[in-house]
Amino acid sequence: MTTHTECQDCDGDAAPDLSREPATTLSQPSRRRFLQSAAAAATIGAAPHLRAQTQAPAPASAAPPGNPVVPPRPVTLTVNGRAYTLQLEPRVTLLDALREYAGLMGTKKGCDRGQCGACTVLIDGRRINSCLTLAVMHEGETITTVEGLASNGALSPVQRAFIEHDAFQCGYCTPGQLCSATALLSEFRSGTASTVTADVRARPAVLSDDEIRERMSGNICRCGAYVNIVAAVRAAHDNA
Ligand code: FES
Ligand code: FES
Repeated sequence: MTTHTECQDCDGDAAPDLSREPATTLSQPSRRRFLQSAAAAATIGAAPHLRAQTQAPAPASAAPPGNPVVPPRPVTLTVNGRAYTLQLEPRVTLLDALREYAGLMGTKKGCDRGQCGACTVLIDGRRINSCLTLAVMHEGETITTVEGLASNGALSPVQRAFIEHDAFQCGYCTPGQLCSATALLSEFRSGTASTVTADVRARPAVLSDDEIRERMSGNICRCGAYVNIVAAVRAAHDNA
């Protein structure tokens, strides 16, 4: 134990002599103290990393009560005419199943919450935001993604019109726009009305620009290529 007699900062009296300069002051750190401090700091900084390397991984946290973990099971999806059997947990969205499990990266993830339309695909010919639906719900249905719009190596009329009318800039929204426009044309031909249809009891006679804008309003284009997208959809309709 250090006594006052051994202490360098006082003369052994109960009250140290504060007027005396200590052997080493803050303004004059010794080289030895500096190296000791640096080594200690380095040890503290490395400690978490060392612990992470030597300790066994923490066990997975238990599932919350009433929300049991459901293991993956085989789910067969028919996409673009081909069957994909994927090991999926029930919580996997159709969008993630397509992109992360089936490797079909054409369908894009924009918002992942049903706001942008980048993930639009066709199910039995109807458009759907694939980020808002679960993959397990679509066994036995016919799923079409942007990769399946062309047939026998030939682009679809909508794809050709988008190229001819320069209906994209970065192209991120384009797979969703193409799927949406494809479904739009068949919806219009089958007589489905929209909120801008003047008389919803009558089959819309003309696919006006207002009709196209309204029917494509679920597909957002961050580049703002809307004018050319409307022109492309109108051309695809007129040339059909
Ligand atoms: S990613 Fe699905 S709507 Fe945006
Ligand atoms: S072309 Fe870039 S987001 Fe539509």
